[in-house]
Amino acid sequence: MEKQHTINFEAIESYDHLDAMEKTLFDKAMAIRDLAYAPYSNFTVGCAILLENGEIITGSNQENAAYPSGLCAERTTIFYTGANFPDVKIKKLFVIGAPRNATASVPIPPCGACRQSILEYEAKQKDEIEIYFASLGGEIFKTRSIRELLPFSFDASYL
Ligand code: THU
Repeated sequence: MEKQHTINFEAIESYDHLDAMEKTLFDKAMAIRDLAYAPYSNFTVGCAILLENGEIITGSNQENAAYPSGLCAERTTIFYTGANFPDVKIKKLFVIGAPRNATASVPIPPCGACRQSILEYEAKQKDEIEIYFASLGGEIFKTRSIRELLPFSFDASYL
């Protein structure tokens, strides 16, 4: 029997349609993206995480001459958050990526490994994390939880 698995997301038309906090997160992700260390791919990614105490944590992708030793912006940021604020809930995660000198493109979704890592923190805090992903202009996609982006996800319930 064939079955379907649908995912739900919101397509926000543009930056102007974000609320004040979302604009702040977009701006911070854009700003930290400029500092990305991405000399090999020249694909720069910025991430901004909003905590329930109102603090905003930012990070960018960090590459390495031994390519697999580098790390994506989302994991750089969420691991720092987990290490420094282990008991503070994460409310939102905003990611913006594009080739370094691009002008605009379509929303850049988190890679599979980042989705799995974000899922771990949702499970840990027993609360959903809103995910936003975008590029330099145009639409911003939003999901209520990382689970929307990771159907059939593997988690500790199977262990
Ligand atoms: N990258 C991220 O930072 N996040 C993603 O979700 C996708 C990819 C980075 C990794 C690498 O430094 C560059 O983008 C090209 O893959």
